[in-house]
Amino acid sequence: MPEKDLRQDSAVSSQGASASDDLVFSPMQLKDLHDVYYIEQRVFPYHWTYRNFESSIAIENRGIVLRDGNGTMIGYFVALDIVDEMELLKIAVGKEFQGKGYGRILMDKVLELARLLEMESVFLEVRESNAPAIGLYKATGFKTVGIRPGYYVQPKEDALLMKLKL
Ligand SMILES: CC(C)(COP(=O)(O)OP(=O)(O)OC[C@H]1O[C@@H](n2cnc3c(N)ncnc32)[C@H](O)[C@@H]1OP(=O)(O)O)[C@@H](O)C(=O)NCCC(=O)NCCS
Repeated sequence: MPEKDLRQDSAVSSQGASASDDLVFSPMQLKDLHDVYYIEQRVFPYHWTYRNFESSIAIENRGIVLRDGNGTMIGYFVALDIVDEMELLKIAVGKEFQGKGYGRILMDKVLELARLLEMESVFLEVRESNAPAIGLYKATGFKTVGIRPGYYVQPKEDALLMKLKL
């Protein structure tokens, strides 16, 4: 497994997004959690706790953060690879950065990582009312493959199960 590559920071051109600075991806570490949690609380109605993120790092989920050239956190994702399938547990862009193409940039990184890990597919669950996220997933090629009734709480809501074959 090419672990070394995944641990290195990588820069990406911000072409396609509105930011002019270069963007930097890096593995999510404890030192990132203050910024991650700041975003998390503001974008999810029912969000992970700080401890959930600490545990996620401890069990070596695939967490990646995206910062601009000034070090400001733009967003992050957390994924889990199980045999040949990757589950995208979380993807988020800070409120002030939404709608500028960063979600797409993060999703491209998810798919790059999944291919690097030789996954055959990526799947996720999403609230059926979450139009921005569903829009992003459909635009990236995900298809709805099932519904999980009452999957979410606060507020209670069905989940769409979406999947992308790589
Ligand atoms: C979902 C989320 C990550 C999208 O990030 P973003 O940076 O705003 O998205 P982008 O600007 O890259 O847009 C990518 C695509 O998503 C879709 N999209 C984005 N905002 C949308 C909206 N308000 N309504 C419908 N579709 C939308 C579009 O298809 C868009 O492509 P287009 O610009 O070519 O039309 C972001 O809205 C977010 O963090 N939401 C809160 C957290 C969340 O719900 N995460 C997903 C569940 S785990």
